[in-house]
Amino acid sequence: MKALVLSGGAGTRLRPITHTSAKQLVPVANKPVLFYGLEAIRDAGVTEVGIIVGDTEAEIRAAVGDGSALGIRATYIRQQAPLGLAHCVLIARDFLGDDDFVMYLGDNFIIGGISDLVRDFTAGGYAAQILLTKVANPSQFGVAELSPEGRVTTLVEKPKDPRSDLALVGVYMFRPVIHEAVRAIAPSGRGELEITDAIQWLIDSGEDVRPHLVSGYWKDTGRLEDMLECNRKVLESIEPAVRGEVDPASQVIGRVVVEEGASIVRSVVRGPAIIGRGTRIVDAYVGPFTSIYTGCTIERTEIEHSIILESCTIRGISRIEDSLIGKEVEVVQSAVRPRAHRLMLGDHSRVSIA
Ligand code: TTP
Repeated sequence: MKALVLSGGAGTRLRPITHTSAKQLVPVANKPVLFYGLEAIRDAGVTEVGIIVGDTEAEIRAAVGDGSALGIRATYIRQQAPLGLAHCVLIARDFLGDDDFVMYLGDNFIIGGISDLVRDFTAGGYAAQILLTKVANPSQFGVAELSPEGRVTTLVEKPKDPRSDLALVGVYMFRPVIHEAVRAIAPSGRGELEITDAIQWLIDSGEDVRPHLVSGYWKDTGRLEDMLECNRKVLESIEPAVRGEVDPASQVIGRVVVEEGASIVRSVVRGPAIIGRGTRIVDAYVGPFTSIYTGCTIERTEIEHSIILESCTIRGISRIEDSLIGKEVEVVQSAVRPRAHRLMLGDHSRVSIA
């Protein structure tokens, strides 16, 4: 069994972060979201992993390397443009050979792993097995309809009138017959080779496609709100540990991780929260559900329910909430007159001023 992890794509919903960076590397509790997926694959006993990469190839390669630190062997497969999930299978043909494989969307986040699914599929002898979860708003998802004996009969993208509340989660198990399917289908209206069309092709060809229901938490982290929600979920269960320095004038309360080389000076950190290596928190308040990555300076600032990437400086800002701030960003109070907001923002940035 092999794995195919999709880590290319356009990431339009997470702009401007994705103008310069891979969305799969946005940290959740200070660990790239992609790493959670790679670890779940490894924990299911799959170590040969093909990673589909696009424009952010260099960054993904720099983070994952040969995969040995994560207990996998990584092979990179370049996709020239984000032409769809089934296109990823098409270009991975040589890597996949005639092996069964698990396909995993690199920006999806699952608590509880995929070992049950891989075990179920290995025992089942189906052509494909798709991970499904019950959702309250099926018309916003790809939805699967099942027959009374539990086969998948139809896949519908964002149905207006959903006949099922079972949405597709970004993990799929395939036997090599899927290669025929991805060659047979044509691009959809949005110009992509859709994996749902390929699976429907299998079903229509009489192949046995089965569901597997997610038991735990799942999230597609395509938007800011989703990233913050995943961050909350992971922080809720982190093991508190203070490996950095906390001065006597500071208070660290609840589930808080202070990583090596971080320092908390005259500040209050109220967990769950994580403060990355080399980050300095000075005369500040860091509130619940906040992850601050490595090498940041947070000074005379109150911040809560946010994700801050590496090497940011935030100084003299009374209150920041519900925010995702990219690498090496500076948000500072200015003493210059006239008093004004002075901004230099990348394309598609979003600023909301209190
Ligand atoms: P999506 O989130 O469906 O697409 P996207 O990354 O282009 O994002 P947006 O809709 O915000 O523009 O992709 C799911 C995962 O699959 C994600 O990790 C990116 C990856 N992917 C590829 O690697 N190649 C592709 O052709 C597509 C469409 C996605």
